Amino acid sequence: MAFRTLLAKKTLALASSFAPVSASGDRWLGASLHRVRTLTVASLPDLPYDYGALEPIISGEIMKIHHQKHHQTYITNYNNALEKLDAAIAKGDASAVVQLQSAIKFNGGGHVNHTIFWQNLKPTNEGGGEPPHSTLGWAIDTNFGSLEALIQKMNAEGAALQGSGWVWLALDKGSKKLSVETTANQDPLVTKGATLVPLLGIDVWEHAYYLQYKNVRPDYLKSVWKVINWKYASEVYDKETA
Ligand SMILES: [Fe+2]
Repeated sequence: MAFRTLLAKKTLALASSFAPVSASGDRWLGASLHRVRTLTVASLPDLPYDYGALEPIISGEIMKIHHQKHHQTYITNYNNALEKLDAAIAKGDASAVVQLQSAIKFNGGGHVNHTIFWQNLKPTNEGGGEPPHSTLGWAIDTNFGSLEALIQKMNAEGAALQGSGWVWLALDKGSKKLSVETTANQDPLVTKGATLVPLLGIDVWEHAYYLQYKNVRPDYLKSVWKVINWKYASEVYDKETA
């Protein structure tokens, strides 16, 4: 995936030992067999800008809570679920393996989505909000008519999304076409299609805007384009269509 480091390695020692007994009944201590598995867990990525750098579009308070509290909570819960999954697999507990899937999807999705989201934002004085040029710009014109038409479509679908979720500008790696997609809760874009790649995802959970925009999600959606990092979206597009 074309975003910053997602995962940090953490070794969880899940060792078991096996001490076979010899024909004479004595333990064969020198032949203990150790099984050690490692589990790769997630960690919170740094933001590529200061918490207050997106003001006045998104307040520093929102960014700090969103990153340090909400994203971190998804990571913590995802890692806990992974550890339980690892134990369930080791025990061959199929029921527990299945039971853990919803927690992994929700919290793992929250981690994946927010990691993309931080890359999708950029301070205005560093190029945030500057329209995409060249290949992605042409593709947007071809698929939607204009950048303005795409923004209107994403704003409308984001505003209409019931409850919490995400609105995406997606690239289909197979057809090379762009589309606007929405996902509920923390479902990542890949749940809508295995060939879909997120170029841009906008978080429309209330925690992303409520402290500043209150319940008026359309105002948040109208403003957020001023800090959208089209350079990132263009780089992903170019890489996936090369
Ligand atoms: Fe969020």
